[in-house]
Amino acid sequence: MKSLLILILLCVAACSAYPLGGTAKDEDTTMDLVQKYLENYYSLPKDAKQFVRRKESSPVVKKIQEMQRFLGLNVTGKLDSATLEVMHKPRCGVPDAGHFTTFPGSPKWRKTTLTYRIVNYTLDLSRDAIDSAIERALKVWEEVTPLTFSRIYRGEADIMITFAIREHGDFIPFDGPGQVLAHAYAPGPGINGDAHFDDDELWSEDTTGTNLFLVAAHELGHSLGLYHSTDSKALMYPIYNPLTDLARFRLSQDDVNGIQSLYGPPTVSPEEPVMPTQSLPAGPETPAMCDLALSFDAVTTLRGEFLFFKNRHFWRKSLRTLEIESNLISSFWPSLPSDVDAAFEVTSKDTVFIFKGSQVWAIRGNKVQAGYPRAIHTLGFPPTVRKIDAAISDKEKKKTYFFVEDKYWRFDERRQSLEPGFPRQIVDDFPGVDTKVDAVFEAFGFYYFFHGSSQFEFDPNAKKVTHILKSNSWFGC
Ligand SMILES: *[C@@H]1O[C@H](CO)[C@@H](O)[C@H](O)[C@H]1NC(C)=O
Ligand SMILES: *[C@@H]1O[C@H](CO)[C@@H](O)[C@H](O)[C@H]1NC(C)=O
Ligand SMILES: [Zn+2]
Ligand SMILES: [Zn+2]
Repeated sequence: MKSLLILILLCVAACSAYPLGGTAKDEDTTMDLVQKYLENYYSLPKDAKQFVRRKESSPVVKKIQEMQRFLGLNVTGKLDSATLEVMHKPRCGVPDAGHFTTFPGSPKWRKTTLTYRIVNYTLDLSRDAIDSAIERALKVWEEVTPLTFSRIYRGEADIMITFAIREHGDFIPFDGPGQVLAHAYAPGPGINGDAHFDDDELWSEDTTGTNLFLVAAHELGHSLGLYHSTDSKALMYPIYNPLTDLARFRLSQDDVNGIQSLYGPPTVSPEEPVMPTQSLPAGPETPAMCDLALSFDAVTTLRGEFLFFKNRHFWRKSLRTLEIESNLISSFWPSLPSDVDAAFEVTSKDTVFIFKGSQVWAIRGNKVQAGYPRAIHTLGFPPTVRKIDAAISDKEKKKTYFFVEDKYWRFDERRQSLEPGFPRQIVDDFPGVDTKVDAVFEAFGFYYFFHGSSQFEFDPNAKKVTHILKSNSWFGC
């Protein structure tokens, strides 16, 4: 009780700015919170006997300072309003100082293929939405490490994911709505590696409730061996930060450095071509959009925006705001591969089709449609066609053109079949366009063909090239 008393005294001096009514009961509640906060996250001893009365050296003041330093607040040692405000914010249940597990050193997995299991579900979201949030959260770490995750449905996985309330079998009970959102255990056997989510929160796909993807990505960071970061921009910062635009979500350099210090950068997958000029450096770096040599893997429209795909990234250009945004493919569509070959939109179906190798995915907004990927041969291509270089769908004519090496095929969207009389030579019907096409999309009635760093504006009615541009001319470099 002595420690509580000291806290109350400290607060009388410093809490007046905090908008909390000011009744004795409110102060009690606040002091309870402060005490628990420092005990839980800054290993303030629960044993009050150790307390010294001299203010500056009091363990409580020391702990407040430690907390302020960690969370990037002014180190006053006082419970000023900024400090109390942060203490009221929802956060992760893992301590900032002191270890959650008794494991010495920095525990990490000794293998690169890990299993996970979603043991049970919250009722706040559909199972699909939960599966997808967890999958995307794992992908965040998969992108920047050699780790891969495979899902299992029964038995003991390395990472067991559960939703639970209050006491749930690990002696670290959840606290009802608000405050602690989740916690997770560092790598190891048994409960280690597991992630628990407080089902008294209202979990959501967006940020109207507590965003499951963001919290899961953070907790899985712990499951892989990361502790909290003091960098307020990092995913591993302990306080929940509902980003307004989830589409912009990226790991901070601090997170990447942390996880790569444990596991190193991703290994180049054997299916990627070994072409040094095209290989991306490890890490989440975005290829430079103003590089004059920039080429694209695929370009498409999506609901009035233009998407330019390159390696693991895509740029998104909105015609309304003219802003250009860079994203990881996996942060929008976790099950899509990187290094895609071709993409096109069928506006009448509000669907974008994405091709890589012999497979095609259908996406609507940020959802990959069920039943995909499918083999491209289901569209009618002969087995000799191993990949599509580029594709475009003409919404007026209801025809889709598939470019494969120096030839193209035409697909009738009404009949859903390839037209007879194809393939034809690209040079015959698209004069002036290079015979090899990397990407193509339609805008303002023109087809824009890409080859390397060149772009050809083609007028399909006049059947001629009207401009030759740099590939990245859309970026206003
Ligand atoms: C720290 O204190 C300075 C000066 O009192 C103030 O301007 C600043 O906003 C404070 N920073 C935080 C994070 O509270
Ligand atoms: C999920 O499983 C955990 C661990 O077995 C249990 O404590 C919890 O109550 C379960 N939650 C739900 C929502 O069934
Ligand atoms: Zn955490
Ligand atoms: Zn737990």
